[in-house]
Amino acid sequence: MTRTLIHGGTVVTADGSSVADVAIEDERIVGVAVPGTHDWAGTATRTLDATDRYVLPGAVDIHTHMELPVSGTVSADDFETGTRAALLGGTTTIVDYAGQERAGGLVEGVERWQARAEGRACADYGFHLMVTDVRPDTLDELSVLPTVGVSSIKLFTAYPGTNYSDDGRILQAMQRAADLDVMVMMHAENGIAIDVLRAEAITRGDTDPIHHLLTRPASLEAEAVERVVRLAEVAGCELTIVHISSADALRAAVEGRDRGLPVFSETCPQYLTLAIEDLPDGFDAARYVCSPPLRWRRDGHQQALWDAVATRRVDAVATDHCPFTWEQKQVGRGDFTRIPNGVGSVEHRLDLLHQGVVDGRLTLERMVEVCSTDPARLAGLHPRKGSLTPGADADVVIYDPTARHRLSADTHHMATDISVYDGLEVTGHTETVLLRGHVVVERGVHVGHAGDGQYLPRGPNSRS
Ligand code: URP
Ligand code: ZN
Ligand code: ZN
Repeated sequence: MTRTLIHGGTVVTADGSSVADVAIEDERIVGVAVPGTHDWAGTATRTLDATDRYVLPGAVDIHTHMELPVSGTVSADDFETGTRAALLGGTTTIVDYAGQERAGGLVEGVERWQARAEGRACADYGFHLMVTDVRPDTLDELSVLPTVGVSSIKLFTAYPGTNYSDDGRILQAMQRAADLDVMVMMHAENGIAIDVLRAEAITRGDTDPIHHLLTRPASLEAEAVERVVRLAEVAGCELTIVHISSADALRAAVEGRDRGLPVFSETCPQYLTLAIEDLPDGFDAARYVCSPPLRWRRDGHQQALWDAVATRRVDAVATDHCPFTWEQKQVGRGDFTRIPNGVGSVEHRLDLLHQGVVDGRLTLERMVEVCSTDPARLAGLHPRKGSLTPGADADVVIYDPTARHRLSADTHHMATDISVYDGLEVTGHTETVLLRGHVVVERGVHVGHAGDGQYLPRGPNSRS
C-alpha cells in the first residue's frame, strides 16, 4: 500500500480554507487534519511538501471536444494531448461530448468515443452524448444511455443542417430525458435566424471573421434560452444551458431557475476573459471564432458573467475546449462561415479563474466550487470527484498562488499553434497533480502516461 502525506498546505474546498495535511492511501483520500493533530508522518511512504501552496481538489471540466469531427476537419487535441494539457492546468477529470452520427445510433456514438479515449487519456474521463438526429428509434435508445454511464445528452437549437433539432424534436427528447433522469445540455442560439444573418453578410461581401461574431447576436442566444427553458418546463426535465456567453442569455436561464425550475448555467473562461474589443483586424481574428461568440465588453456581458459566477447563479465554468490549428482555420479565408468553430482553453481554466480571485471578483472557495465541486455534482461524479473528503478519489492539485507566467501558444501543451490567450500574464500556477493518488504532474512537468485515465460511468445530477 502507498501512503502519501501532503503536508503543510492551505487546503481549499468549496466549504472553506485552512492549513491542513491530507492523507492518501493508494487511490483514495483517507483524512484531512490540522498538522500536529495526527501521526500520519510515521506511516507515510511519501511526503509532499505543500508549504505556501494551495491544496485543491482536482478540477473537473465538464465540457470538452477532443478529436471532434467538425466542418470537414477534426479538433486538434486528441484524448492524449488534450488530457495531458488538462492535467498540466490542474484538471484531473473531463466530460467530453461523444457524438451521434446522422442516421447512426446513440450507444454506437459512445463506443466510438470510448475507442478514442481508452488507453490514451492521461486524465479520467466521462461522456455526454450529442443527440443530433432525433428519430423514434433514437428516442427509444435514450433509455440505454444511463446503463453505459452516460447521464446527459446535448441538443442544439444552433447549426441547422448538422446538429440542429427543431422544437418538436427537442421537446420529445426532453420528455424522454425527464422519464430517465437524464440531464439535457443545451446549445441555445437561434440557428435558423442566425443562418439568415450569415447569408446576408456573405451577400454584402462581409466575409471577415468579425462577421461570425456580429451575425450571432446576444438576443438570438437569449431567445433560444427562453424557448428551451419553456420546453424543459413543459417536459419536466433538468436542463443545463451550456457555454453562456452573454448577460441576456444568462438572465433568461436565471429567470427559469428563479421560477423554481431545475435550470443550470455553464459559462467558459473565454467569455469571462476575452471580448470583441480584443480581436485583431482581418483574418487574424479567425482564431477567436467560436459559438456562441465573444461579446462586447462595453455592453457589460463579462461583468454580468463574473457576478453570476461569484454569486452561484452560474453553476459551472467549463471550457468548451475545441482547438484548431492556424492551418485548419485557413479554410475560412474569404468566407467566415467555413471557419471551424472553437478555441482551446482546457489547460488554462484554473489559472484564468484564479485571476478572478486575484482581482477580487470571487473567493478562492467559490473558484474551487465552480471549477470542481459543482461541475462534479452536475455530472453525477460527486463526491468521488470534486472533493477532498475521505473516500474521494485522491485527485489533488498543489497550486502555487504567487507564480506569475505568460500564456502563449509557444509554451502551452494543447496541440495547436494558436492561442486566444497569447501574451496574457496570470498569477498562479499548477505545480503538482495527483490522479487517484499517482503523481502525474511534478513541478509543472507531466510525468504520467497515456492510458492513466479511467472511464467514469456517471450517475444523475446531484446539484440542486
Ligand atoms: O465553437 C464551439 N463552441 N465549438 C464546439 C462545439 C460546440 O458548439 O460546443
Ligand atoms: Zn455548443
Ligand atoms: Zn461545446
